Amino acid sequence: MLIDSFNRKIDYIRVSVTSRCNFRCLYCMPNTPMDWEPRENLLSYEELFQFLKVAIDEGVKKVRLTGGEPLIRRDIEKFVEMLRNYAPDLEIALTTNGYYLPELAEKLKKAGLNRVNISLDSLQRERVRKIAQKEALEKILAGIDKALEVGLGVKLNSVIMKGVNSDEVVDLLEFARGKGVTIRFIEFMENSFAYPELKRFSSGEILAEIGKKYKFTQLERDNSPARYFQLEDGYKFGIIEPHKEDFCKNCNRIRLTAEGYLIPCLYFDEAMEIKTAVRQGDLERAKEILREVVRNKPEKNRWSEGEESNRRFFETGG
Ligand code: 5AD
Ligand code: SF4
Repeated sequence: MLIDSFNRKIDYIRVSVTSRCNFRCLYCMPNTPMDWEPRENLLSYEELFQFLKVAIDEGVKKVRLTGGEPLIRRDIEKFVEMLRNYAPDLEIALTTNGYYLPELAEKLKKAGLNRVNISLDSLQRERVRKIAQKEALEKILAGIDKALEVGLGVKLNSVIMKGVNSDEVVDLLEFARGKGVTIRFIEFMENSFAYPELKRFSSGEILAEIGKKYKFTQLERDNSPARYFQLEDGYKFGIIEPHKEDFCKNCNRIRLTAEGYLIPCLYFDEAMEIKTAVRQGDLERAKEILREVVRNKPEKNRWSEGEESNRRFFETGG
C-alpha cells in the first residue's frame, strides 16, 4: 500500500496520455500552437501499462485517463482494454472535453471503461466557441447523450469564470439535473498559460447564484476534491474549490504525464521521471521512484496562499 508522509493513502493515479488537445480553452492553453509535442517523447501504451501494473500491484485502485484530450490519442480504447484485462476490479475513468465521445463512447464502454467526466462550460453555442475556441457544443451534447446511452457513468465539470459564464450556473445545474447526472462547478485556477484577463468566480458566488432559485444543504465530505450539496428534490451537485484551506487534506492521488513524469501534487513542480526505468525494463527502480514520489507528496497546494501556478493543466489533465 502507498501511504504518504501525512498518512494519506494513495490509491488513485491520473494518467495524461497526451498533452495535445483539439480545444484551446481560455483557462487552459488559449495561445498554444496546435502541433507541439514531439510524439517520440511519449510513453507508448505498452510502457504506460508496464508502469501502471507496478502501481496497481502497489495498491492503486483507480486510474483516470486525462490529457490534453485523451480521446485524440489513437486506439485509446485498446489501452483501456489492457488495463481492464490486467485488473478486473480496477476503477477506470476518463476526463474528456466530449468532442469525440459520439464516436468512441461505445468502444470505450466495451473495452471496460467505467466512467467519464465531461467538461461543459456553457450551453450557449457562441459561448462554447469563445471559451473552447472551437465550434463544439453540438458534439459535446451528443457525446453526453452517447455516454449515457451506452451505460458509462457520467459527471459534468464546469469551470466558472466571472463575466464569461457566471450567469449560467443555474442553467448548467438544471441541464445536468434533467440528464440525471452530477455536475461539479470548478473554481478557475490561476495559471500562467490561461487568458490573462480571466477572473475567478468563487465558490461562495456560485452558491449564491444557486441560492437565488433553490434551497440546498451541504453533504458530509468524503475524499472527493468536491464539496457536495443537495437540492430539496434530492439532486446532488458539487463544487471544487482548490483555493480552500482544507482542499488537500484527503488527497489520495498522484499524476503521471504522457512523457513519463510522476507528479505528487497538481500545484508542485517536483516530479520524477519513470521513463528511463521503464524503457530499461527496470520495474524495481520504477517501483522505488513511485514510493519516493508518494513519500515526497507535499501537504497542500499553494493556491490557498494566493499564488499563481506555472503548472500546465494540459499536461496533467486538470
Ligand atoms: N482552472 C480550473 N479547472 C481547470 N481545468 C483545466 N484548466 C483549469 C483551470 N485553469 C479543468 C477543467 C477541464 C479539465 C480537463 O480540467 O475542468 O475541463
Ligand atoms: Fe483541452 Fe481540456 Fe485544456 Fe480545454 S481544458 S484546452 S479541453 S485540455
